[in-house]
Amino acid sequence: MHIQSKLPGAGTNIFTVMSGLATEYNAVNLGQGFPDYQMSEELISLVNGAMQKGFNQYVPMQGFPPLREAIAEKISGLYNTAVNPNTDITITPGGTYAIYTALTTVLQPGDEVIIFEPAYDSYIPNVEVNGAVPILIDLKFPEYKIDWAEVRKKITARTKMIMLNSPHNPTGAVLSENDITELRSIVNGTNIFICSDEVYEHLIFDNIPHQSILRYPDLLERSFVCFSFGKVYHCTGWKLGYCVSSPSLMNEFRKIHQFNCFSCHAPSQVGLSAFLKNKDSYLTLSSFMQEKRDHFIQLMRNTKFELLDSKGSYFICAKYDQLSNEPDKDFSIRITKEYGVATIPVSAFYKSGTDNKVVRFCFSKKNETLEAAVERLAKIS
Ligand SMILES: Cc1ncc(COP(=O)(O)O)c(C=O)c1O
Repeated sequence: MHIQSKLPGAGTNIFTVMSGLATEYNAVNLGQGFPDYQMSEELISLVNGAMQKGFNQYVPMQGFPPLREAIAEKISGLYNTAVNPNTDITITPGGTYAIYTALTTVLQPGDEVIIFEPAYDSYIPNVEVNGAVPILIDLKFPEYKIDWAEVRKKITARTKMIMLNSPHNPTGAVLSENDITELRSIVNGTNIFICSDEVYEHLIFDNIPHQSILRYPDLLERSFVCFSFGKVYHCTGWKLGYCVSSPSLMNEFRKIHQFNCFSCHAPSQVGLSAFLKNKDSYLTLSSFMQEKRDHFIQLMRNTKFELLDSKGSYFICAKYDQLSNEPDKDFSIRITKEYGVATIPVSAFYKSGTDNKVVRFCFSKKNETLEAAVERLAKIS
């Protein structure tokens, strides 16, 4: 049998490679983005309770209604925007699926999608599998800011969508109000859609306001905004998230969703709908994660890594030029094998493999994990 691959360039991704090495060499894994501590016991018991109460059958395709209502209430409180839970919100099996569905909803072969690099690894394949063309723009190193002049140059009659991600993986950069102004002036009067990946919503530090597209009803009209419960509630294995959009876009999104996943895990939705009623469930997240970031920054002073700024997400990048001239992938592999700490080389987030000699650390780990990792990193000379 011969199959013509839809993604001929896709291989094993760097997260799988580095996690495999971490296991083989018994390394502390600060590579892949997942917490190593327990999630909320309260949320666990709410989900258990939902199963025991019999919430074990399909919920509506759009998602469990009380969960959509709780999300709409949260959006109104945080961003002062009214979204209709019946028409504007759909629960999805994770943020990645929401992004894939958004892209599949709008893209036609030959359409162009602007993607900023370094980029989360699903974006480019998601565009390509739809026969569309990724138009890649580098974020300005080392702040990883968007070069809006470059965006203007790359807009053509075929530009269908701009992908955003804030807080940003892998860099921890966040969008500013000025970025929103620039974005608005570019898309105004065009048919360009926006897909805004906000899976690290709430994980934003130093009291910086999250510039969610949800704050801007004029932009929301042309946007799909994607979220992940797994990321913010320390349960990445749940693969549950949601998408918020405007009614006509969401109507089309649901046409794709209903013939793919159709309906997501019911008991988790029931549990979350109760959990979200308490605002602390999301208002305490940024200080929780900021403490981890600050602890990691403090520990890393004992090493020769030069940390870059992380304003959000649960990642922080570091230059290692005082330690080595090796390409970042070789360096990451070597320190996993020789010093027992796994990281992710940031070149893996560029299609062309741009190498600024930077690695990414994930700090959403127990303090003792971070301390054990840094003790090893301090030995690299
Ligand atoms: C930027 C970004 N978007 C989406 C996701 C995936 O979210 P989920 O696990 O809910 O699919 C990740 C996970 O690493 C991510 O970093």
